[in-house]
Amino acid sequence: MGDNEYKEIPGGLFISFEGIDYCGKSTQVKLLSSKLSHDGYGIVVVREPGGTEISEQIRAVLLDNANIKMAPEAELLLYEASRAQLTRQLIIPGKDAGKVVLCDRYFDSTTAYQGYGRGLDLDSINKMNLLASCGIKPDMTFLFDLPAEAAQARFSSVPLFKDRLEEEKIDFHRRVRNGYLKIAELERERFKVIDAEDDIDNIAEKIFTEVKKRF
Ligand code: TYD
Repeated sequence: MGDNEYKEIPGGLFISFEGIDYCGKSTQVKLLSSKLSHDGYGIVVVREPGGTEISEQIRAVLLDNANIKMAPEAELLLYEASRAQLTRQLIIPGKDAGKVVLCDRYFDSTTAYQGYGRGLDLDSINKMNLLASCGIKPDMTFLFDLPAEAAQARFSSVPLFKDRLEEEKIDFHRRVRNGYLKIAELERERFKVIDAEDDIDNIAEKIFTEVKKRF
């Protein structure tokens, strides 16, 4: 096959990767992407928030520590804005071209973080997710399940639960994790829950096996 040729999948395949911060999903996106391109599939890899010029500008606003005063509703709408742009500009065209679209986070992140984490109204979030995803949905979603304490231990060598603020932060991630598990429970067909404490190569193998079932 030449450089511009790839094995086309009718309608494409849209896969999202979800989980709390430090769950290890980004590593797995890279591993899957290289396996699939090695096998000759066309791949589009994107991340949320971000992925297009406009969405990356929105990402900078969202993740800027100086924006401490951002209202939860403003945060929600910015995530949705970034998503709408990414969906129209890259995800839908990728699917239409018969490619595999790998998305590091998609609308389940909003339900888990802004809904279960921040406590915004879930019905409103579902409606906004629907609008921002322009009527499409991931065909498969891998949820990397990890206790909040284990995630914290991955990035910090300081003792757990230092002070009230630390405890608040970990409690937020506990709510997000439990939220994800509830979302997965509601859509068992779409979700594959992965034990994120498993070995990297085992996880990669499991994911590859699941994805191959779709071809
Ligand atoms: P990022 O540095 O990309 O983290 P990760 O590698 O874990 O994806 O930051 C994305 C952050 O934004 C992460 O903390 C989750 C959060 N987020 C939301 O709160 N809502 C959303 O809809 C999305 C897409 C992300």
